[in-house]
Amino acid sequence: MRAVAVFPGKKQVQLIDTEAPRALGEGEVRLRMLEVGVCGTDREIASFQYGTPPEGSEFLVIGHESLAEVIEIGKGVTRVKPKDLVVTMVRRPCPHADCPACRAGRQDFCLTGDFTERGIKGRHGFMTEQIVDHERFMHVVPQALREVGVLTEPLTIAQKGLNELRAINTRLPWSSAGGTRKPKAVVLGAGPVGLLGVMSLIEEGFETYVYSRSKKPNPKAALAESIGAPYISSEECPVESLPERVGNIDVVYEATGASRVSFDVMRVLGTNGVFIFTGVPGRKAPTPVDTDLLMRNLVLKNQVVFGTVNAGFDAYQNSIDALTKFDRRWPEQLRKIITGRHAIDAYAGLLQGAESGIKDVIRIAA
Ligand SMILES: NC(=O)c1ccc[n+]([C@@H]2O[C@H](COP(=O)([O-])OP(=O)(O)OC[C@H]3O[C@@H](n4cnc5c(N)ncnc54)[C@H](OP(=O)(O)O)[C@@H]3O)[C@@H](O)[C@H]2O)c1
Ligand SMILES: [Zn+2]
Ligand SMILES: [Zn+2]
Repeated sequence: MRAVAVFPGKKQVQLIDTEAPRALGEGEVRLRMLEVGVCGTDREIASFQYGTPPEGSEFLVIGHESLAEVIEIGKGVTRVKPKDLVVTMVRRPCPHADCPACRAGRQDFCLTGDFTERGIKGRHGFMTEQIVDHERFMHVVPQALREVGVLTEPLTIAQKGLNELRAINTRLPWSSAGGTRKPKAVVLGAGPVGLLGVMSLIEEGFETYVYSRSKKPNPKAALAESIGAPYISSEECPVESLPERVGNIDVVYEATGASRVSFDVMRVLGTNGVFIFTGVPGRKAPTPVDTDLLMRNLVLKNQVVFGTVNAGFDAYQNSIDALTKFDRRWPEQLRKIITGRHAIDAYAGLLQGAESGIKDVIRIAA
């Protein structure tokens, strides 16, 4: 069975021949991988900055954004059946009895840090022909989403963020009562995380703008504008001018991984605004921040700043439901987020070569 494996010890990424997964235990399911998405996390693992092989293994099979087909079910399986399309969750609970988050099935909030993640930390991932996992980590995807189901996992970032935003905004008694004022959101960054955030926020009822680096015209800007989100380039519009363009910024959804521009935009977050961080920057030299201004704004404007790492069980389900809505509303644009489909042999260029397009996907089986 072919698999893409990272060997941190010898700093190599290789297509290996590995054993087919074990026989099925109670509640377990065998999947045939159809597609695996490639993201910045995979590229970081393939440059040996990140990623941990399972205990006792010198390599880690990479890949965490998946779409697969059920080919065999073990005893007692009730949630999936053969031929179902499924997406398998990435993060797994830590073993500690006193971790309330993991014991509540919310390993995305794990307190000990001893969680594992398939394809990232301590567990092999999905860039291989078959996997076996427990049904409790699987979500059925409607057959109608065959072409875009691989976007489920990256979309969980925005969907978990939205779940938390809704919880925070229950503090505003008018938020659920409608009203005439349309809330406004600015998405920072126009990569896959940003664009899926744009779709999520528009669907949630926000007048949504994109603030990102590259000047127009460019394909990401065109995609954002074709679904009704004006694109503003940070090279053409300084942060200070954003409120003029947008009005009161109710939500910032950060998807750049760039801390400087993010803290700059935090300065113009509006009254009662919520700033959602999703980016994971590499550590660089410290840069100055106007702490008095940020603290005054946080207090005097009732602001909330939070970060979110994906994702819990509910965010996967929300993500699949959201994909169904996006597919009805923007079928063409949703498909345009996947800019390349490649054979598994193209792994080296995708993981270690120059970045191109929006979301690249490795097609493992037809
Ligand atoms: N929270 C989580 O669980 C989670 C999971 C996966 C990934 N992430 C993080 O999510 C972030 C976004 O991921 P992605 O795959 O969408 O990344 P990406 O494809 O690299 O896209 C980043 C976008 O941000 C823009 N950008 C970068 N630096 C900028 C700056 N200084 N000013 C303005 N715009 C800037 C880029 O502009 P150009 O188009 O001009 O290059 C690009 O549009 C990453 O930091 C990643 O680590 C988080
Ligand atoms: Zn990813
Ligand atoms: Zn835990």
